[in-house]
Amino acid sequence: MFDLIIRGATLADGRRDIDIGIKGEHIIAVAPSLGGDTGSEIAAHGRLVCPPFIDPHVHLDSTLSLGLPRMNASGTLLEGIALWGELKPALTAEAIYNRAKQLCLWSMARGTLAIRSHVDICDDRLLAVDALLALRAEMKPWLDIQLVAFPQDGFSRYPGSERNLLRALDKGVDIVGGIPHFERTMEDGAMSVRALMRIAAERGLMVDMHCDETDDPLSRHIETLAAQTLAHGMGGRVAGSHLTSMHSMDNYYVSKLIPLIHEAGVAAIANPLINITLQGRHDTYPKRRGMTRVKELMQAGITVGFGHDCVMDPWYPLGSHNMLEVANMALHVGQLTGIADMQSCFAAVTENSARIMNLPDYGIKPGCYADLLILQAADPVEAIRISAERLFVLRRGKILAQATPRASTLHFNGLETVVDFTRANLAAQ
Ligand code: FE2
Repeated sequence: MFDLIIRGATLADGRRDIDIGIKGEHIIAVAPSLGGDTGSEIAAHGRLVCPPFIDPHVHLDSTLSLGLPRMNASGTLLEGIALWGELKPALTAEAIYNRAKQLCLWSMARGTLAIRSHVDICDDRLLAVDALLALRAEMKPWLDIQLVAFPQDGFSRYPGSERNLLRALDKGVDIVGGIPHFERTMEDGAMSVRALMRIAAERGLMVDMHCDETDDPLSRHIETLAAQTLAHGMGGRVAGSHLTSMHSMDNYYVSKLIPLIHEAGVAAIANPLINITLQGRHDTYPKRRGMTRVKELMQAGITVGFGHDCVMDPWYPLGSHNMLEVANMALHVGQLTGIADMQSCFAAVTENSARIMNLPDYGIKPGCYADLLILQAADPVEAIRISAERLFVLRRGKILAQATPRASTLHFNGLETVVDFTRANLAAQ
């Protein structure tokens, strides 16, 4: 009756000793002590079993290009944009494809099975669009990729943006992007939001804009994005990425803004690794953190996801596409150390981001895809704490990646002692 049963799982909601029965590509039963015929079994040994990690914000066209044509000497956002501009003329579709594919391999090994990638359309050749569309199709059996048409150099600022954006959408790019804070004026920024929302509404597409990625407390394009979402009735299909200006905004204004975002059904995507390194650069001390108000947005009932944003590119020299590292950084930067807050950080790289991407049949219940991870951790907090090994990554009921449990053997005081940093290991001592 089952092709595979995962036995003895702990789930993120705290349920223990749960068996997960899989038939074909789907989960068909979730209960203790499943009986019946099985093709094969995997013992979870009480470890955390969860649906895959989701990265709702990354740039596959620039990923792994670190050092090309040179390093970012200042480490700032603006030098990163300038550096990307220097690299763009030398890009080839093949090089973009190969680097992005390498990142996809890292993602799958890390248990990240859905990615929303922005793709720069401010290159009249649209090489990156073609490369990533081909990659999206190739990876489909193993990894879901959504592409956002992203006018990196400004929708009104770069002369060919609108034409290129429409061409990209015609080619099959899924989502409308934007960068209103990078337009020449606040007014241009607001106009770009209206124009892009109109395009998305006409075509029935989702929207995900880089929005207010600045420390300027008066950068309020999220307000326009929320109002436009209401006007077009597009709640649940629009996300504001970064929203870092909110960190610096006046508290009274924010007390009006957050309910508006909630009313509009706009989701928020923070990118903690990048926000903590790129924001606050004009500050001496005290130095702002820059990340948006994650805790307050979550408390208001707004869906908040966390993205990796960059992996070894002009903006960020580090990373290995580990979404637990992203959750860990958000937890620290946002002082999200309460037990419910820590669990929310795990949700932000799993179920929240799946909701933002409108992924169908995501989760652990009958009818969902058998896309599952077995982590070397007892619960979500431990997974974040030790950046748990992904022991099994299942995609559509089949093993996609496997890792051996991480452990060190100490030859200490005449004894051999195994240390794996988990609480189970502590309990066994
Ligand atoms: Fe980004």
